[in-house]
Amino acid sequence: MEPIPREDLVALCADRRRRLLAKLGDGLLLLRSGGEQIRNGDVTWSFRPGSDFYYLTGFPEPDAILCCHRERVRGRDVVRTVLFVRPRDKLQEIWHGRRVGAQRAGKLFGLDEARPIDEFWTALPELLAPHRRLYVRLGDDAEFDRRLLATCAASAFTLRKRNVPRHPELVDPTPALADLRVIKEAAEITAMEQAAELTSRAHVAAMLAARPGLHEYEIQQVLEGVFRAAGSRRNGYDSIVASGSNACILHYTENDRKLRGGELLLLDAGTECGMYTADITRTWPVDGTFTNAQAAVYDVVLKAQLAAIRQVRPGRPWDAIHKTAVRVLTQGLVELGVLRARRGGLRKLIADEAYKPFYMHGTGHWLGLDVHDAGAYYDAAGKPLRFRPGMVITVEPGLYFDPSDRKLPSELRGIGVRIEDDVLVTRGDPRVLTASCPKTRRDLAQVFAARAASRRSASG
Ligand code: GLY
Ligand code: MN
Ligand code: MN
Repeated sequence: MEPIPREDLVALCADRRRRLLAKLGDGLLLLRSGGEQIRNGDVTWSFRPGSDFYYLTGFPEPDAILCCHRERVRGRDVVRTVLFVRPRDKLQEIWHGRRVGAQRAGKLFGLDEARPIDEFWTALPELLAPHRRLYVRLGDDAEFDRRLLATCAASAFTLRKRNVPRHPELVDPTPALADLRVIKEAAEITAMEQAAELTSRAHVAAMLAARPGLHEYEIQQVLEGVFRAAGSRRNGYDSIVASGSNACILHYTENDRKLRGGELLLLDAGTECGMYTADITRTWPVDGTFTNAQAAVYDVVLKAQLAAIRQVRPGRPWDAIHKTAVRVLTQGLVELGVLRARRGGLRKLIADEAYKPFYMHGTGHWLGLDVHDAGAYYDAAGKPLRFRPGMVITVEPGLYFDPSDRKLPSELRGIGVRIEDDVLVTRGDPRVLTASCPKTRRDLAQVFAARAASRRSASG
């Protein structure tokens, strides 16, 4: 599954490097793909390159380092890119898989030069020498940081008789990268549309497969079977398949309980297309019928979600989605008999955060290469950033009623409902990328009616 053809990706990455360096200014940028992590013995966790690195290179392998800077050539700024990569190695490739290698990487990934990774430390002083600034993120790997700082100090040492800084200024490029990543390009939106569409389809397959007696992991298998069969090789995050009161555990991933009739199932899952993920939550009755209490909670959460989605417009502060959701949810909690009105009304309940025991998370996050994607939420003064076209945010209010809270009406205890969609900011109305995943009670009823009909015809 390649929603962004490789030639297009190569051109996009070159343009992103150009835009990033235009933002950062002169200096050398270093960015690492990350290394494989040992799971145990000689077995590693499956590898996925760091999203910042992938965003700028499209290169999928571990142990690679991007080095790039701007140069003035005939009056024009050009970006020079060197990528250090794992060398070809017959034995390693027999055991662990193919490598692109330095010889092919340059041409395939549109680089000025690709070199074997074992030359990195000897090449670095020369690469660094012309620069007063080094754009690098410290803190990921202590040994890398130590060697880097030693190289910086040593490379400046020869200049000590001139009264110049002893090492280049170190600047973290992460915020500038996040500012680019938060606005999605057309090709990225295409990839996200595919991820959203496939994820929606898989959620429906899970609804159609569910029945009391199956385990949560069997629903997970159906859902992820749809992902894999369509060629998506990896989820954006571990699927949350939470039946009954497990839905009150926000990041529940044990997924090992048996589904029961009369209970809800909260399914929060998304898959990757071309490295971009979707993030959808739907909550529905295992046996197809909401109880009155479940329906009442569901309607409050849906109302909050629809109201919050309407806030996703250019110029609106991003936290308007949370403020709107909190208002509708708090009002709903009063109507459900969970919160008692106070003097000062709804505003006082909100100011006192009376909703917090039942709604303890935020209402959304940026979405893209990562499920909790790059991008700032507040400016330097702490003011919420405003939506701009090209941003993609999740909108995911919920209500959760602790099964052991004896102060709650008994019919609410253990109910957890979250509804989550992925929303693109356009120049006008919000565009819900995950709109094809059923979420009104009427749409869900249609799915369950179709499920019942197909089971009847299969059994008769
Ligand atoms: N699936 C994780 C989240 O919704 O943030
Ligand atoms: Mn989310
Ligand atoms: Mn989610």
